[in-house]
Amino acid sequence: MKDLADAEVPRETGALIDHILIRYHKRHRADLASLLPLAERVHENDPDVPRGLARALAKLERQMEDHMAKEERILFPAMRAGGGPGIEHSIAVMRADHDDHDENIAMIRQLTQDLTPPDHASGSWRLLYGGTSSLLDDLAAHIALAINVLFPRFERG
Ligand SMILES: [Fe+2]
Repeated sequence: MKDLADAEVPRETGALIDHILIRYHKRHRADLASLLPLAERVHENDPDVPRGLARALAKLERQMEDHMAKEERILFPAMRAGGGPGIEHSIAVMRADHDDHDENIAMIRQLTQDLTPPDHASGSWRLLYGGTSSLLDDLAAHIALAINVLFPRFERG
């Protein structure tokens, strides 16, 4: 798993949120936008590509988009404003969303032998697995940063 050095992660809450938006939300969307059509194409060209991968990626995209939109519209603005009543409930919902992501990620890894292409895999198949692998690494780093660093600032211990 890729981990950002502490020095690269801003401490101040507003700057940390900006970092999450730029380094993760924006990049996740760009990665998913290129991986989804690639998954469809690879699957059409090669019947050995695990059935269900394109569907699992599409599901991950819907889950992540729904989750990121909630953070961007509701949770992050509330955090920038210093927190307030109801924020712990919103955070609990975000934590549950992250658990759903983890389940879907585990399914993708299981379908694909942990994203290891077989020896006979085509170039685009390898590209799909490599891109999905870096998306999942980014997502894991993003979730860890949110649940270990950002969320606890607004939760009573
Ligand atoms: Fe999140």
